[in-house]
This record gives sequence, C-alpha cells and structure tokens, in this order.
Amino acid sequence: MAHIHALCFTTPRPWSAAEFSEMLASPSVFMLHIADGFALGRLAGPEAELLTIAIHPDAQGKGKGCELLQKFIESIRQNNVSDLFLEVAETNFTAIKLYESAGFATTGRRAAYYKAPSGPKIAAITMKYTLPEPPPT
Ligand SMILES: CC(C)(COP(=O)(O)OP(=O)(O)OC[C@H]1O[C@@H](n2cnc3c(N)ncnc32)[C@H](O)[C@@H]1OP(=O)(O)O)[C@@H](O)C(=O)NCCC(=O)NCCS
Repeated sequence: MAHIHALCFTTPRPWSAAEFSEMLASPSVFMLHIADGFALGRLAGPEAELLTIAIHPDAQGKGKGCELLQKFIESIRQNNVSDLFLEVAETNFTAIKLYESAGFATTGRRAAYYKAPSGPKIAAITMKYTLPEPPPT
C-alpha cells in the first residue's frame, strides 16, 4: 500500500508503511483491494469515510478506480452505512470526476488544507454520498 501510495501522491503527501499499519490497527478502519489498487475506509455507526483510494499509475484511466469505489460502496452498504464522506484536493480533477460520476455531491471547501511540497497550500473539497435506501422487502 505504501509503495502504490508513494507513486500516486505528492499532495497530500503519501503515507508510510508504519502509518498504514497504525491506521489498520484501529478496529473501525478497513481496507479493500483489487489487483492494481486499494481503498481505506473508516466506519462510524451510520457514517463512513473514504480515507484514501489509489490505483497504480500504470493501471489508471481504465475503469479500475470506478470498480474499486463501487466495491467500497457495496461493502459499507453491508455494514448499514447511510452516508459516505471524503476530502479531496481541489486540483485532483480525476478523483473529483470519479466521485461525481459515482454520485457524490460537494458539501464544502476547506481553504489551504493541504501543504504542497512547494508553492501555496491547496484547498480540500468535502464530498458526501448518500447510499440509496434498500428496496422494501
Ligand atoms: C483517482 C483514481 C483512484 C481514479 O482511478 P482510475 O482507475 O484512474 O479512474 P477510472 O478509470 O475508474 O475513471 C474514473 C473517472 O475519472 C475519469 N478519468 C480517468 N482518468 C482521467 C484523467 N486523466 N483526466 C480526467 N478524467 C479522468 C474517467 O473518465 C472516469 O469518469 P467517468 O466515469 O465519468 O467516465 C486514480 O487515478 C488514482 O489512484 N489517482 C492517484 C491517487 C488519488 O488521487 N486518489 C484520490 C485521492 S482523494
């Protein structure tokens, strides 16, 4: 995970193997993966947070991010989650496109949220996805 993260991120900075281990030690944090990528999430009752999602650069742009996000949503649905939240750098147009295509709506903007290696800090966009109600049985 740390290897793929380092290939994928500069801002926000990638997470180290030790940071991944520490996060996964929390019982509320879970990881899902496909062949070329992974996603980390946190459950909190009826809410969940998409902490990170990363597809190896060699495999990006081929629908894998979409596949992984749908797998993530299916997983939290089985945990009775109703609302999924995330933060994304406002310059990350690919990720924002992925989230909008999946049905996320923008809920806010946090100015100067991410520290870039050089240059000005980057704002975060906050987004929310409300899972559809299951059909009545
Ligand atoms: C963001 C990320 C997970 C998307 O995964 P992916 O496999 O590359 O994306 P997909 O091929 O599934 O495409 C998802 C959407 O983004 C669009 N897209 C893909 N590559 C794009 C590009 N280079 N520029 C613009 N849009 C792009 C696709 O058209 C698709 O939109 P659509 O469903 O409306 O057609 C992946 O690019 C990645 O790991 N990026 C680096 C890490 C990152 O930014 N993670 C998100 C942090 S919040």
